[in-house]
Amino acid sequence: MAQTDRLSPDSIDNKAIEAPRIVGRSSTWTRDSHSNTQRILQLTDIHLYAEPDRRLFDQCTRSSFAAVIALAQATQWPPDAILFTGDLVHDERAEGYRHLRACIDNLGCPCFCIPGNHDRPDLLASEVEPGADRDMRIQRLGAWDLILLDSTIPGSEGGRLQPHSLATLARHLEQQRESSQQRPALVALHHQPIPVGSRWLDTMQVENGAELMALAEQYPQLRVILWGHVHQTFDRQLDGTRLLATPSTCAQFKPGSDDFALDAQAPGYRWLELEPDGNLRTGVERLATEALDT
Ligand SMILES: [Fe+2]
Repeated sequence: MAQTDRLSPDSIDNKAIEAPRIVGRSSTWTRDSHSNTQRILQLTDIHLYAEPDRRLFDQCTRSSFAAVIALAQATQWPPDAILFTGDLVHDERAEGYRHLRACIDNLGCPCFCIPGNHDRPDLLASEVEPGADRDMRIQRLGAWDLILLDSTIPGSEGGRLQPHSLATLARHLEQQRESSQQRPALVALHHQPIPVGSRWLDTMQVENGAELMALAEQYPQLRVILWGHVHQTFDRQLDGTRLLATPSTCAQFKPGSDDFALDAQAPGYRWLELEPDGNLRTGVERLATEALDT
């Protein structure tokens, strides 16, 4: 995201922030799904600061992140993996990454991180997850391949995919098409590869996103393309590929807005159930507004 944050220095102190307790919910994972179903969560655009109480657009990013984790733990838990899809730290300082690492250590499940335009990929790799600064990674998860792409451009808010990443992805998909056990694939990246219908945000989309979409059209086993960056829900089916964006764990942007505008919707996360045959179910869960620390 691009806009300058509205910071209130007077609101900053070092008091500990506790996650709210969310009670009375039970897991909504599909009970009769295949035993090899992979259940994953996407948490995105956390925008952590070094200061525990610091706010972005009047939202304390650490406390809303903690509340979203608490909601996930009360609603869809445990997942087989969590994807963190960029803008994980807002201020380019190490403390936010250390806080994220401490949170991940408490989650007890595999977590994969990719950088966003606000991140320092070197700090993300050194403080949170070694390898998170690579242009492309392929993680096997059950019958699926999770393909993690770095769409960031150093010094820019926009996005671009490296030609060698797209070429490696094309080779991988081609090999899978020729194999007897074709593995469905989910691609995760930070920026949107297609317009989401918001003019100011779409000036920052992946500039060569059409090349990724061409691969989706060519290789039907590319079942999901998933991103963050837009701080709002997006869900389209394009031929055989589901195109998904997910709310931020903090502030939300108004869908369809030509110019920057905040949305009143609550922070949230996305869940996905990935079946071995390539089918999937997905949805978004949001905090109740009374859980917000505003
Ligand atoms: Fe963001």
